[in-house]
Amino acid sequence: MKKLGLHEVKKEFLDFFKEKDHLIEKSFPLVPKNDKSLLLINAGMAPLKPYFTGEVEPPRRRMATCQKCVRTGDIENVGKTDRHATFFEMLGNFSFGDYFKEEAIEFAWEFMTERLEVPKDKIWVTIYEDDDESFKIWNEKIGIEDKKIVRLGKEDNFWELEVGPCGPCSEIYIDRGEKHGCGKETCKPGCECDRYVEVWNLVFSQFDKDENGNYNNLTNKNIDTGMGLERMAAVLEGADNIFEVGEIKKVISEVERTTGISYGKDKKTDESIRVVTDHIRAMTFLISDGVLPSNEGRGYVLRRLIRRAARHGKLLGIEGAFLSELSSFIIKLWSEDYPELRENEVKIKKVIKVEEEKFQETIDQGINILDAYIKETKEKGEVVLSGDKAFKLYDTYGFPLDLTREILEEKNLKVDENEFNVEMEEQRNRARKAREGVGNGAWSKDDFSHRFKSFNTTFRGYEDIKLSSEVIGIFLEDEKVSKLSEGEEGIILLNETPFYGEGGGQVGDTGTIKGDNFKALVLDTKKTKDNVIFHLVKVLSGEIEDGKEAVSQVDISRRNDIARNHSATHLLHKALKDVLGDHVNQAGSIVLPNRLRFDFTHFEAISKEDLAKIEQIVNEKILEQLEVLTIETTLEEAKKIGATALFDEKYGGKVRVIKMSDYSMELCGGTHIDNTGKIGLFKIISESGIASGV
Ligand code: ALA
Repeated sequence: MKKLGLHEVKKEFLDFFKEKDHLIEKSFPLVPKNDKSLLLINAGMAPLKPYFTGEVEPPRRRMATCQKCVRTGDIENVGKTDRHATFFEMLGNFSFGDYFKEEAIEFAWEFMTERLEVPKDKIWVTIYEDDDESFKIWNEKIGIEDKKIVRLGKEDNFWELEVGPCGPCSEIYIDRGEKHGCGKETCKPGCECDRYVEVWNLVFSQFDKDENGNYNNLTNKNIDTGMGLERMAAVLEGADNIFEVGEIKKVISEVERTTGISYGKDKKTDESIRVVTDHIRAMTFLISDGVLPSNEGRGYVLRRLIRRAARHGKLLGIEGAFLSELSSFIIKLWSEDYPELRENEVKIKKVIKVEEEKFQETIDQGINILDAYIKETKEKGEVVLSGDKAFKLYDTYGFPLDLTREILEEKNLKVDENEFNVEMEEQRNRARKAREGVGNGAWSKDDFSHRFKSFNTTFRGYEDIKLSSEVIGIFLEDEKVSKLSEGEEGIILLNETPFYGEGGGQVGDTGTIKGDNFKALVLDTKKTKDNVIFHLVKVLSGEIEDGKEAVSQVDISRRNDIARNHSATHLLHKALKDVLGDHVNQAGSIVLPNRLRFDFTHFEAISKEDLAKIEQIVNEKILEQLEVLTIETTLEEAKKIGATALFDEKYGGKVRVIKMSDYSMELCGGTHIDNTGKIGLFKIISESGIASGV
């Protein structure tokens, strides 16, 4: 076997497949693009799904990558076993309707035996139980004896994600010798012991699994393979486990240096050293790819990694924050392969530092309280901590349930999670009730989507603020009626309207609707999920009747004030990015006639100096009197020209891009002024945090 380290195995692999005509692509970011089914990239094939399904034409039919991956399904096992990790690199060669089983197997064999010089007699393979074709190739073409080809069921030899391309697979194992085995007669690949290590998975990707679990045949037969880089390097280096691979060992040494505790002396401290070693890589790469700590989704994955690592640091006796410093070491070791780490170094270190320091306070207080709870529980001779105590820790002290669970497990205790969930649900109900109290009655109760489904309303308010159209629906309270009389408040739907329905942060328009014998005030305008626009009106005189003609007029001065503020949010968004960095993203906004509020992602409070800088930039852009253009185009084209948007959102049909000269370009359905000069003056009144990371 050749003795190769992490970076060398990677180079060898990519060089080999380059020679076999594969296009070598850089690793894709860990945050999936346009894929809501996946939180984080967890396999080499994940960013390539559209090539497998045929949705997008690949630049070449053969491709190979070394892909950054994060998997946190088994996070509790990290540190405890030899092979669990949350962050790893996956080598893969892919065929999009080009070669299939035979060549995939031949390539793998050639690479393993000739390039890595793995002795042939050490290689075993598994195949999907009824895949006789693969059996024949391994057996007759390659020459692996029958007994070394193990047939396994769907659980082991069918590879799939929640949805998307999938298929039966064949896995390659290396026999590390009897001394690693369990000694049982039946020991072979698939056995729980550590003798046979799976190093490469060849997936014969021929189905596309849909949301309902149906396996639809793909037009193309594809190949998707995955080789765990750390595992392969461990085998080649003769290391006992992934933590003893040369490059990773360097991280372990750095953790030893930081903590003053040696690795390999004690099971408990080894576990903590491994957790820190694994998690520090994961968090560094995640932040580099734009993830920020938060309480949900991938932000929570990151928060959890930072908190777990911080806590294990504490178990190793570290006082205070240390992870930020340690991340420099990861950046140093991996930035040659991943230059983005160096580019984002300042951000990475800052995000970790802020989060870790915040957590220090929580953790010290929480652990003290939990210790007292544990003592109490044990004294009572019980093994389960009540859910309301765990909830109190969470709710009052911000101590997360998973940490409570882990700490209890270490003491052979459990937490009553059912009870915890009941408490959580009750709290949610309380919060919901409190929110309902604030809204304006029936108007805020539901989104009306269902009730107005059959109506067709068109927004004409980009071009016109006054127009004549037809009343196509009238509602009083919850009921559809044929007319509204003087003094009554109700809902009116028009086939065409100049009134902007609240959306994208911008409030709804107000104004008047008049007919031959009536006059009504439009108090507010909203729209449903399906873009049906409806108006809350109060009849001042006469009667509005269904089917009659009406002239609508938007309150133009209020609309202009709103447009000024909306255009200002775009300038502000860009200025925030300019001053704070590209990680800043819009996280909500309110655009009113008298002010605007802009929510955005950032990891700390903004300094006074930066606030002043931001304000100044926006005012400069106002004084430059930039022309504001609206471009109607497709989502694809908008992406291509580089418009800012939350592209995981689904936009149907045409989209609007608001372009302020060369300074700002954003996807937006709101109404704007036509020149930034019309904004007048921009003043920041206050800045504060509304949620963690926002
Ligand atoms: N997609 C396959 C895996 O991740 C190769 O194992």
